[in-house]
Amino acid sequence: MSGQYQQEYRAFSDNPEQFWMQQSKRIPWFSSPQKAYHQDENGFYHWFADAELNTCYLALDQHVDMGHSEQTALIYDSPVTNTKRTYSYQQLLNEVEKFAGVMQDLGVTKGDRVVIYMPMIPEAVIGMLACARLGAIHSVVFGGFAAHELAVRIDDATPKLVLSASCGIEIDRVIEYKPLLDEALSQAKHKVEHCVVYQREQAPADIQAPRDVDWQSAMQGAKAVGATPVMGDDPLYILYTSGTTGTPKGVVRENGGHAVAMHYSMETVYGMKPGEVFWAASDIGWVVGHSYIVYAPLIFGCTTVLYEGKPVRTPDASAFWRVVEEYKVTALFSAPTAFRAIKKEDPHAQGFNQYDTSSLKRLFLAGERLDPPTYEWLKEKTGLPVLDHWWQTETGWAIACNPIGIESLLTKAGSATVPTPGFDVQILDVHGEQCEANEQGAVVIKLPLPPGCLPTVWQNDTRFKAGYLNQYPGYYLTGDGGYLDEDGYLFIMGRTDDVINVAGHRLSTGEMEEIVAGHPAVAECAVFAIHDALKGQVPMAMVVLKDDYQGECATVEQELKATVRGKIGAIACLKDIVCVPRLPKTRSGKILRKNLRQLIDGEELQIPSTIDDASIFDEISECLQTS
Ligand code: COA
Ligand code: AMP
Repeated sequence: MSGQYQQEYRAFSDNPEQFWMQQSKRIPWFSSPQKAYHQDENGFYHWFADAELNTCYLALDQHVDMGHSEQTALIYDSPVTNTKRTYSYQQLLNEVEKFAGVMQDLGVTKGDRVVIYMPMIPEAVIGMLACARLGAIHSVVFGGFAAHELAVRIDDATPKLVLSASCGIEIDRVIEYKPLLDEALSQAKHKVEHCVVYQREQAPADIQAPRDVDWQSAMQGAKAVGATPVMGDDPLYILYTSGTTGTPKGVVRENGGHAVAMHYSMETVYGMKPGEVFWAASDIGWVVGHSYIVYAPLIFGCTTVLYEGKPVRTPDASAFWRVVEEYKVTALFSAPTAFRAIKKEDPHAQGFNQYDTSSLKRLFLAGERLDPPTYEWLKEKTGLPVLDHWWQTETGWAIACNPIGIESLLTKAGSATVPTPGFDVQILDVHGEQCEANEQGAVVIKLPLPPGCLPTVWQNDTRFKAGYLNQYPGYYLTGDGGYLDEDGYLFIMGRTDDVINVAGHRLSTGEMEEIVAGHPAVAECAVFAIHDALKGQVPMAMVVLKDDYQGECATVEQELKATVRGKIGAIACLKDIVCVPRLPKTRSGKILRKNLRQLIDGEELQIPSTIDDASIFDEISECLQTS
């Protein structure tokens, strides 16, 4: 590695404040920052707190003001409804300023929370940007989550308003959202004043006035409102993510740092130029959707694609390449799972050759480990640079990447390449000592985290400290294990906690365990992730039934699958449930989930010396053979 990347990284590490103050000059603030960051009474860091801005202004108005009102801001492509629609920057602004008027009329003001539970339709983006315009804090809940998960988030965020739609469409299945929303609102302790519901013709919803408001009708009389100035450390959004317990964590994102980070990343990480088309094939319910479907491309002046479809079956495995051709996409970003699905159905990548994909310069992957076979397949079949990058909901942008906008580095299979300027990534051992090159340990980031990363957990400073800061004082604990090699390349080897990644969706085994343990027949259980060729990982449960339970294991199995799915959502489907006589534990009672995973995945068992009774694995193997 030589040259420009190192220069840039040194500019950051020599003087982070100066580096980020310099980057902040790229943003048209209402009033510019005088100071890079400060620490609050908890010692938490906040960037550009003294500056004034409005994120919606940056995403829309600034481009119109600069004379780009006719440029396409958003392309909506929905194979599930046979719809294609484009919005210029001016048209998107018109919609957003009017919808901000609708929300203002319903009493939403700066600092209020608004939960958004919507499918991948332009109105979801309009809702997010309209919140930003008012200085309200949105919290988008992924449409695949069930009513219970929505209720938990409503109780934590205590929103004034919920934005929703009558339905979502999963390939050819219409999923009615309104009954889920009604159920969530009845489960939640917090009372929401109003719900604005976008009516889709596939399944119009019952509107219960005066609580519910019909989106389209409300827009008819709405007045446009301007962008409210907010301070750099005012929150832009809360995004809940799975932790190790059943209660999701509300990752807070502040306006100022976020805007600077989004702008910087579009150039540095993705090598984009304003006016080009960026496509993050993800969902607005995940962080990738927040950062790279909505905010970063718009703040940077690109065209973004909102795709309401799947990589396969809408209608086939060439869907991604069709979109690339149709909109002349420059860079495509998705999860490895999506490409594994394409590879399974179209192993020779005929779809790629069937379309004119010459606009496509590079492919970005993140969200889960990029397995070498998928990496090699993509490289061979597309001939494009295939760039793995590593990040998390908490950081909001890439911690490690191939910084293509500065210097294109050689890639190494299995590595997310190098720390992004702004992130001081280190590997620590259990004693908090620095690991040697190639030695695996906990991946941590020296504080302060760069702009855009979470300053805390919503209304829960204690959880922020306990989950991220206490283990290694002065460092942020990522929850991932890995190592840096002798060239400074970072290899992420997987989570060290109970978080798993299923088809690029982040789930908590702890949460599933709480649900499984709640079944009346279950005495004890362990939920862990096993390898899956398509989805990367899938959850599996081992349960010990109560002695007095008279029924069949198969009955419990069916009930548990339905309960987990019903409580968390269809994305949390337990692949298998096996009834066992007992679970392997250490002498102190800790369940050895890692060994269970090794057993199922056919790996060598690394049984710790503290195990209570190793013969349990023979008993479990027998159960597996008969189940
Ligand atoms: N609303 C309602 N239900 C949803 C949903 C949503 N937004 N998203 C997924 N589901 C449902 C699916 O319909 C499916 O239901 P089913 O079990 O009744 O068939 C279930 O949740 C599991 O979905 P998924 O895990 O996505 O599996 P799949 O077999 O339907 O699709 C892939 C497999 C690989 C095509 C799909 O997971 C995919 O596109 N992955 C890419 C993920 C991604 O982009 N992640 C973002 C990080 S960058
Ligand atoms: P999420 O918060 O949903 O984005 O999930 C973040 C987690 O996904 C990380 O902590 C990693 O465990 C995993 N992850 C994301 N990107 C990568 C990557 N490129 N390589 C390996 N793991 C990744």
